Amino acid sequence: MRSLLITGGAGFIGANFVHYWSRKYPRHRLVVLDALTYAGNLASLAPVSDAGQLRFVHGNICDSDLIDTLLAQEDVDTVVNFAAESHVDRSIVGPDPFIETNIVGTHALLKAARRAWSSEQCSSKTYRFHHVSTDEVYGSLGPTDAAFTEATPYSPRSPYAASKASSDHLVRAYGHTYGLPFTITNCSNNYGPYQFPEKMLPLMIVNALEGKPLPVYGDGGNVRDWLHVEDHCLGIELVLTHGTVGETYNVGGNSERANIDLIRQLCGLIDAAFADDSNLETRFPRCPAARKSSTAELITFVKDRPGHDWRYAIDASKISTALGYHPQQTLESGLHQTLRWYLDNESWWRAVMDGSYRAWIEIQYTKR
Ligand code: NAD
Ligand code: TYD
Repeated sequence: MRSLLITGGAGFIGANFVHYWSRKYPRHRLVVLDALTYAGNLASLAPVSDAGQLRFVHGNICDSDLIDTLLAQEDVDTVVNFAAESHVDRSIVGPDPFIETNIVGTHALLKAARRAWSSEQCSSKTYRFHHVSTDEVYGSLGPTDAAFTEATPYSPRSPYAASKASSDHLVRAYGHTYGLPFTITNCSNNYGPYQFPEKMLPLMIVNALEGKPLPVYGDGGNVRDWLHVEDHCLGIELVLTHGTVGETYNVGGNSERANIDLIRQLCGLIDAAFADDSNLETRFPRCPAARKSSTAELITFVKDRPGHDWRYAIDASKISTALGYHPQQTLESGLHQTLRWYLDNESWWRAVMDGSYRAWIEIQYTKR
């Protein structure tokens, strides 16, 4: 039986990982540590909170005493570090929390894991510090460049990407210097249920349903490689169960798309959903699809993000060959499932779109 400390487990990917892991490993102990920033949401954990296997702790990964206590008290053998400030636009407006959580916080976790796992009594157990990172550490690709491999040199270009790159370096340094048993995954853009509607896909869904503009940065030609969050969880599972200590694995969805193409595809799915279900017209009367118009008419080209990386693409052949990873969702099936989730869980997204959310979105619109 494993005892996992899942940091950032009330965020988008962390909460999906908690659901995934509790379904597959119902006997494992799951301790979620989350500071409940604007991006953390206890409601995202509600489906598993009755299971008795989950303990939620409201706290900060920078709090060394708390982490020491949790690692000892819960006999934690596996740390999965999702906790982060994760939104590029916010890192451009205010980088400080990114440095604090992503760098200082990850370092606090590393120090605590080293303290807890280096004693004599611990020597017979198997431990793992798994760090969840991003493809953005590798920089930006041109249209014909080969996709990022694990050997691509780091070249972060936003404060967010630089803070994640720093944390990756610290994790590797702790492995090399102190023998801390670590693995790292660098993944591409995730999408799926429970994603905070500041990120591109959920923002476009909720704006479309409310009949608000769909703000496309620049000319919409920037390319991202989309990964359904369940496929990301599968990749992390394979690394935790069969991965080699000290290794890094890229996880991608084999789904590169220009933003504008993805947004048009989503608009088409929304139109089709309204055509299939007349209740949606009553629930979302402001969506153009409610009056049989095309949702795509909401697309609005806005001022580009400063330093906007042009293209990300993941070469996932290492994890595929070594661990048998293959994404289960196509972009088509994943988008369909994600739209369905947002249609079926209106109370979840309405609850997170509070005053501070609206203030942030307002800043974004007026800035452009
Ligand atoms: P998110 O912003 O949705 O969630 C982050 C969670 O961390 C929130 O619950 C928040 O409350 C918590 N948190 C923030 N600061 C904390 C602190 N100091 N102490 C404890 N908890 C804290 O992020 P996400 O999209 O779920 O991303 C999870 C991880 O995956 C991050 O490390 C991110 O860099 C990485 N990642 C995300 C994507 C993506 O597309 N979303 C892509 C690549 C990598
Ligand atoms: P985002 O979800 O912020 O992820 P990241 O910046 O980490 O890739 O953005 C995905 C892409 O969508 C990125 O190219 C920026 C673009 N984008 C828009 O065009 N409009 C928006 O309102 C947002 C949030 C993003």
